[in-house]
Amino acid sequence: MAKPKILSTHQLFEPARKILDASFEVDYWTGSERPGRAEVLAQVKDKEGLVCLLTEKINDELLGVAPKLRMVANVAVGFDNVDVPACTRRGVAVTNTPGVLDETTADFAWTLLMAVARRVAEGEQLTRSGTWKGWNLDQLCGTDVWGKTLGLVGFGRIGRAVARRASGFQMKVLYHDAMRPAESVEKELRAEYRDFNALLAQSDFVSVHVPLMAETRGLMGAAQFARMKAAAFLINTSRGPVVDEAALVHALESKKIAGAALDVYENEPFIHPGLKRPNTVLTPHEASASIETRTKMACMAAENVAAMFRGERPPNILNPEVLQGKQAAGA
Ligand code: GLV
Repeated sequence: MAKPKILSTHQLFEPARKILDASFEVDYWTGSERPGRAEVLAQVKDKEGLVCLLTEKINDELLGVAPKLRMVANVAVGFDNVDVPACTRRGVAVTNTPGVLDETTADFAWTLLMAVARRVAEGEQLTRSGTWKGWNLDQLCGTDVWGKTLGLVGFGRIGRAVARRASGFQMKVLYHDAMRPAESVEKELRAEYRDFNALLAQSDFVSVHVPLMAETRGLMGAAQFARMKAAAFLINTSRGPVVDEAALVHALESKKIAGAALDVYENEPFIHPGLKRPNTVLTPHEASASIETRTKMACMAAENVAAMFRGERPPNILNPEVLQGKQAAGA
């Protein structure tokens, strides 16, 4: 029997390729740059499965050219690039990669927090530039992290992993989330709930950990920056459009806040020129980029595809309603 045809818009890592190659005929995109839209549309036409990155827009246009498509496995936990209702309407299953990147992303949020507070990027540039004249008392004085107040906007798996790291720095941890966890979670993480405005007003570091949805788009805008302390920093490892970049640039320019460390941007890979300032740290959407974690993410996506085509429920399915009837038929 012919193997189902899969398109993978990245060559993935070997352990993930092994999973896919065992059961599928896979077209891997092997270019060093990501494929362009036209290439993805051309290659997905005859495929039954698609393994894609968060840079691919999975929408009616793509679904319309791929009538055989039965599943999309997004190699990311965030799935704002996928129009899930459109997939559901066409009976296409969608999966993501939750859980495996929480600690790695939290490590990186912490990296950014430390870097912006302690002016690591500026120091590194000075050291490499050859213009460093040696130690001086007031050189590159940043802000202490230990003992300060950390405000977590979003208290899901990643927000909580960041909270855990804060205890080693003797920080006070505040959080805001639409859903409050059990009291035992607050106790264990020594985190206190605040309404959003109070969190903004009381935190020295505001770190964002919400998914991008209609409700969170532009969540951090001019009104929110106005509420923050002038000495506070913003850290964003979630999704760029959660922060209104023009408002952030204005807040930085007018010293409404002290600095920002960003891993994600409104229109990646475009970087708002106003963000390129000494009091920002800017990284290229790399928070989950450890070899261990990215390999796990790719394997998770491959396992989801394999389960789907074995007629099983993919472990990380986002729209299980598309399975009704299909699995009974072993499809
Ligand atoms: C990365 O940004 C992810 O959503 O996995």
